[in-house]
Amino acid sequence: MADASASHLPSGIPTIRVVAMPSDTNPAGDVFGGWILSQMDLAAGTTAAIRANGRAATVAINGVIFMEPVVVGDEVSIYTNITREGRTSLTIHVQTWRRARHTHLTSKVTEGDFTFVALDENRRPRPLPPATTCNSPNITPMV
Ligand SMILES: CC(C)(COP(=O)(O)OP(=O)(O)OC[C@H]1O[C@@H](n2cnc3c(N)ncnc32)[C@H](O)[C@@H]1OP(=O)(O)O)[C@@H](O)C(=O)NCCC(=O)NCCS
Repeated sequence: MADASASHLPSGIPTIRVVAMPSDTNPAGDVFGGWILSQMDLAAGTTAAIRANGRAATVAINGVIFMEPVVVGDEVSIYTNITREGRTSLTIHVQTWRRARHTHLTSKVTEGDFTFVALDENRRPRPLPPATTCNSPNITPMV
């Protein structure tokens, strides 16, 4: 059984932060797993697009586990970390954390590995560009 208490909040800022709303629930009233997965895919896609310096598509989602439910009003924060780079593909480890609306308590609710492929204008794989300070997702954006 997954043990969320064994993890620590990732350092840095989340790629996406959003509040779960009533329209995001399943028939039982908890937040729909598909909604959480789509937020994870959006966050990973953001990181992939920065690193690929352009278009990138999800090719695989592996090892996603749901440890705790998310409920309406939770602040949902999604952290991404590039864990592997290939020739045209990269893998991003994604963690989702919840904070109950009226507390400062946070816990990890899901994690998984998202693999993206950098695409050219014909939707075919293209080599990842060399890593620079401009396409490293870990660099704080300039404002
Ligand atoms: C992404 C896509 C263009 C890849 O085409 P492809 O013919 O499989 O390409 P390749 O065999 O050359 O593989 C390209 C890279 O993807 C990786 N890859 C392919 N299938 C994979 C899988 N199931 N899991 C992990 N990596 C995979 C390959 O290892 C390769 O990585 P590398 O260059 O870093 O070594 C094609 O699968 C596609 O269009 N898929 C649909 C994407 C999509 O619509 N996603 C949802 C919306 S974003």
